[in-house]
Amino acid sequence: MHSNSGPSPVTDKTILLIIGGGIAAYKCLDLIRRLRERKIRTRVVMTAAAQRFITPLSAGAISGERVLTDLFNLDDEREIGHIRLSREADLIVVAPATADLIAKMAGGHADDLATAVLLATDKPVLIAPAMNPRMWLHPATRRNVAMLQADGIAIIGPNSGEMAERGEAGPGRMAEPLEIAARIEAMLANPTLDPAATAPTPRGSLSGRHVLVTAGPTHEPIDPVRYIANRSSGRQGYAIAAAAAQLGARVTLVSGPVELADPAGVKVVRVQTAAEMLAAVDIALPADAAVFAAAVADWRVADAATEKIKKGKGGTPSLSLIENPDILKTVARRAEIRPALVVGFAAETERVLEHARAKRKSKGCDWIVANDVSPQTGIMGGTRNTVHVITADGVESWPEMAKDAVAEKLVARIAEHLVLGQADV
Ligand code: CTP
Repeated sequence: MHSNSGPSPVTDKTILLIIGGGIAAYKCLDLIRRLRERKIRTRVVMTAAAQRFITPLSAGAISGERVLTDLFNLDDEREIGHIRLSREADLIVVAPATADLIAKMAGGHADDLATAVLLATDKPVLIAPAMNPRMWLHPATRRNVAMLQADGIAIIGPNSGEMAERGEAGPGRMAEPLEIAARIEAMLANPTLDPAATAPTPRGSLSGRHVLVTAGPTHEPIDPVRYIANRSSGRQGYAIAAAAAQLGARVTLVSGPVELADPAGVKVVRVQTAAEMLAAVDIALPADAAVFAAAVADWRVADAATEKIKKGKGGTPSLSLIENPDILKTVARRAEIRPALVVGFAAETERVLEHARAKRKSKGCDWIVANDVSPQTGIMGGTRNTVHVITADGVESWPEMAKDAVAEKLVARIAEHLVLGQADV
């Protein structure tokens, strides 16, 4: 991809990869390889704990450079001190960012080479947290992550899933090397997407504003054990909520059932059904901006059974469906409490722009973020997205990006609109 088409925007960039001490450290070997494929130079610093999981020798062999390990190694210091190390990098990446390393960063510690570099740097920093789900969800980690976000540090993951420890599952798995590499590439190619870089909208630009976001699917019960659902992961809505909080907004995220951790600094209201979602949205209003990213089930079962439906009694049951309330439409058309900016999503599988334009009108929202969710795109449930933003003035098509990056860009536009009063995107 990069070899035939001349130098890519990230060729000749240097990142400083700080490897923390977690079982996910082994994935960094793959990450370094992926970065090499992209012609990104990777200089590696390993914490003492990281060296218990992988050796500096293996990381050095793949990166093609000597790995740095100790602040007090005089040779290392003479050759490249921690100030120079951070100055020479275009981006600093911490992976895996353990609970301990995150706490040290939040507290401004500098007792080894890794933390000293992080404290000395004025470069963008991306962290890829990895830890046990309980540690990730602990209030101390939530606080520390919120502080890092407020400091403008970009975060990728963690993903949900099985942990290395048997029987443990939940948010805490480090993002996959390919996801991290893509995010690094995006940050290097377009530093303005990174919250720590000279962003078009300064941090805190949404402070004093209330942003309401809906996310995830809804579950509509058939009986006590069965429900109608869809493939939405909630990632895009969660990323939007996180990005709005990062810009200082008070954020309420009304979420259907998903396997994602609450974004730092966001009030999350968890619901199951469309009716519950509408009720929670009602309670959360008023808001300055509302983003409806949820994949709300269009129908619910007219008379959900109160007991489990059993086989064999009266043949195959047939479900009679009734339409759910349209939450976006209800809010957009309620003049007395309508947010100044109402943004809807249009998940389509064909004639994307045509359907999305029609949806903007029929729902009465200001902007529609349209995407093609055909199975082959991998968008539904995936980590990347290709969107078109439709306003009264026309369509803006954004390149494929990580859902986090789409969220940052969209929220920056929302901030511009609300704060600077700019008419449209
Ligand atoms: N939406 C909503 N409440 C519903 C259905 C949809 O708030 N009951 C919102 C979604 O959150 C999204 C937008 O409306 O912002 C469009 O959702 P989509 O499912 O694409 O549209 P539908 O109205 O369901 O139209 P269709 O399924 O016919 O494409």
